[in-house]
Amino acid sequence: MKEKSFSCDRATMQWSLFLLLLMGQCVFITCQLYEYHFIKEQMSWDEARAYCREKYTDLAKVFDLTDMRRLQDSAQSQTEAWIGLYNITGGANRRWHWSLPGKEYTENKTCWRDGEPNDGAYPENCVRKKDKWADYSCTSKFPFICYDEMMKDNKTFHLIETSVTWTQAQNYCRQHHTDLASGLDQIYSEEFKKLLNSKDPKVNLWIGLFRDSWRWSDGSNFSFRYWDMNLFNDGLNNRKCATTLLERSGRWSSAGCDQRKPFFCYDDKLILIRENKTWEEALNYCRQKHHDLVSISNPHQQRWVQERAKKASTPFVWLGLRYSCTLDLWFLINDNRVCYERWASGGKTEDCSTYVAMTTGGQHEWVSQKKNETFNFICIKH
Ligand SMILES: *[C@@H]1O[C@H](CO)[C@@H](O)[C@H](O)[C@H]1NC(C)=O
Ligand SMILES: *[C@@H]1O[C@H](CO)[C@@H](O)[C@H](O)[C@H]1NC(C)=O
Ligand SMILES: *[C@@H]1O[C@H](CO)[C@@H](O)[C@H](O)[C@H]1NC(C)=O
Ligand SMILES: *[C@@H]1O[C@H](CO)[C@@H](O)[C@H](O)[C@H]1NC(C)=O
Ligand SMILES: *[C@@H]1O[C@H](CO)[C@@H](O)[C@H](O)[C@H]1NC(C)=O
Ligand SMILES: *[C@@H]1O[C@H](CO)[C@@H](O)[C@H](O)[C@H]1NC(C)=O
Repeated sequence: MKEKSFSCDRATMQWSLFLLLLMGQCVFITCQLYEYHFIKEQMSWDEARAYCREKYTDLAKVFDLTDMRRLQDSAQSQTEAWIGLYNITGGANRRWHWSLPGKEYTENKTCWRDGEPNDGAYPENCVRKKDKWADYSCTSKFPFICYDEMMKDNKTFHLIETSVTWTQAQNYCRQHHTDLASGLDQIYSEEFKKLLNSKDPKVNLWIGLFRDSWRWSDGSNFSFRYWDMNLFNDGLNNRKCATTLLERSGRWSSAGCDQRKPFFCYDDKLILIRENKTWEEALNYCRQKHHDLVSISNPHQQRWVQERAKKASTPFVWLGLRYSCTLDLWFLINDNRVCYERWASGGKTEDCSTYVAMTTGGQHEWVSQKKNETFNFICIKH
């Protein structure tokens, strides 16, 4: 499937859609949900953050490699620039993250070996698994299991028997598959177990779990890290703010926060409206005060929207997606055909009076809801 980005301008989108449908393709026409801005002026990290918060939303945060490419595309020079990541020093500030963007870590004691995680003589920030999990030094070498969302060779998981460091394993998986195996749903799946049991005796393997004390300026828990391992050595220096090295394909490094550098801000196009309205009221509200009710046409957008949905006061938020009885078709209100779907099982009802909402907890899947229900909703700004 192809992805094309266009401006949010309605006429352009309709015209583009018309052309693409003529070509008979199912295409995502993406109206960007956030924008990066490169600011050439040199500032300390704190000054840069204040600037971004005043003019835009915050210093740039990066969800995945797609974001990283967009960030680089918005740069106007090949230099080193601040991003919104900083280190909270002090041992108790480390947090576990799954390597795969969008997977949320929830504590589950039963997965760990007795007495783990426990650090050692040095901090142990990466996780290996045999039957149960143990934290281990990230520079140790083990085989590993990659997750492949495209199901290369009809397999979701690929066992790589070469022993490498955790970061090398992550790089390999991101290059050849999707990422290191991440999340309980993957690691406790039948297919994963079968792969693990095919090794006799059982071996220790890296899984996609790591911890660090780096945080995003706006408080989100995005787990994506893109360190330049030749320059960066977490634990050996005291440089607490992160930069992107635009001349080194955007890889990240750390620097003293009071150094002066250009920087990236991000501007969020989504606003959560914490008012309870019916779908029609929500649509009118968004069209009058902003641009439109948000619709989702790819997994990347789904992830940005779900971050926002978490902060709603209702169990669902309305999405700009409805069913047309006349056309017998689901469509997005921005006139796109629905090419990406994220229905909860049993959540899809093809009834004339149903509209679509996302659950604000759990997996953030979609469910049909009656039009007289009232929920919070998310508008997209101009
Ligand atoms: C914890 O993980 C085990 C698998 O080891 C799983 O069966 C159980 O449902 C999980 N518990 C929670 C609360 O997620
Ligand atoms: C993948 O699996 C499907 C059915 O599960 C089968 O029809 C197809 O031939 C398989 N493809 C390959 C490349 O093995
Ligand atoms: C990030 O994770 C922490 C702890 O796991 C949690 O308390 C916090 O609410 C999360 N923040 C967001 C924005 O989801
Ligand atoms: C980040 O903070 C941790 C302590 O939480 C520390 O061990 C590590 O050295 C710091 N990293 C850098 C690059 O300063
Ligand atoms: C919206 O409804 C939720 C319950 O579904 C309630 O907790 C919340 O206070 C309501 N918000 C407003 C602004 O009425
Ligand atoms: C919506 O209408 C249905 C009947 O069509 C009714 O059962 C339901 O209670 C109504 N819900 C609200 C929130 O008014």
